[in-house]
Amino acid sequence: MSESTAVSWLAGAEAPQASAIELYAKPSADFENKLRETVVTLLKAAATGPVTQASSLGAEDMVITHLINQHKLPIEVFVLETGALHPETLALLAQLKSQQAEHPHAPLTVYQPVQESVVQFVAREGKDAMYQSIALRKACCGIRKMEPLGRALAGKKSWVTGLRREQSGARAEVPTVDRAEFESKGLLKYNPLADWSWGDVWHYIATQQVAYNPLHDQFYPSIGCAPCTRAITLGEDFRAGRWWWEDEAAKECGLHVKNSKEGVAA
Ligand code: ADX
Ligand code: SF4
Repeated sequence: MSESTAVSWLAGAEAPQASAIELYAKPSADFENKLRETVVTLLKAAATGPVTQASSLGAEDMVITHLINQHKLPIEVFVLETGALHPETLALLAQLKSQQAEHPHAPLTVYQPVQESVVQFVAREGKDAMYQSIALRKACCGIRKMEPLGRALAGKKSWVTGLRREQSGARAEVPTVDRAEFESKGLLKYNPLADWSWGDVWHYIATQQVAYNPLHDQFYPSIGCAPCTRAITLGEDFRAGRWWWEDEAAKECGLHVKNSKEGVAA
């Protein structure tokens, strides 16, 4: 190898990168206990009647879907495919769809926004409208996420999410069972990983060989739509890469109303 070839190879070479499993997998001391409680919570959710898991295909949601499949629980799964997801997320969705026949107890439904609403919004406000104001960002979330969420939850008694207390200050009090939407919508929200650490999530993924979004290997702990998600750097908060141009307080898209303190443990 000539000297110039060696130098250009070195310049083009990427430093070996640790995977998310290598970086994060570290169970809590009481992990086995948490896992047992999580299965109990999922069993209770399944017993409520028509119930569905909201999956963003992020690490937490892949763990929950794996548990649903492992225990053959009658819990449907839905994904809000906003039309603005990363190619990596779409590839994982395609993988899940191709495995659907193996899990008849947990049918997967993909909800997309009303195309006409998206086209009209983009024509009126531009494709980068979300960066212009919080109101326009929320309008985009309304069309691409909230309206389809309404369809996904219609007729359901409860839903299951991957919310964890550790994810942000705003989520610090997420209960295992959240009754905040019960009065208005007759819906219970189950958060079976509420007390899991990030290390617990990756320990489960590592030991159970759960498929995951490769963006997690590139410092994307929290993954949403591509225009509104970036990688985080050392020392940044878990959700720093979501709507990073907005204040901390604005950073929820509306999928999760403020959690009720009246939520009780399962
Ligand atoms: S968000 O409200 O800021 O988008 P986040 O990405 O942290 O939420 O995800 C929290 C939970 O909301 C996920 O574990 C999942 O249950 C649900 N969720 C988020 N995005 C989607 C999506 N695109 N499709 C279905 N569920 C989702
Ligand atoms: Fe639109 Fe961004 Fe909300 Fe996705 S996260 S629906 S792209 S504003």
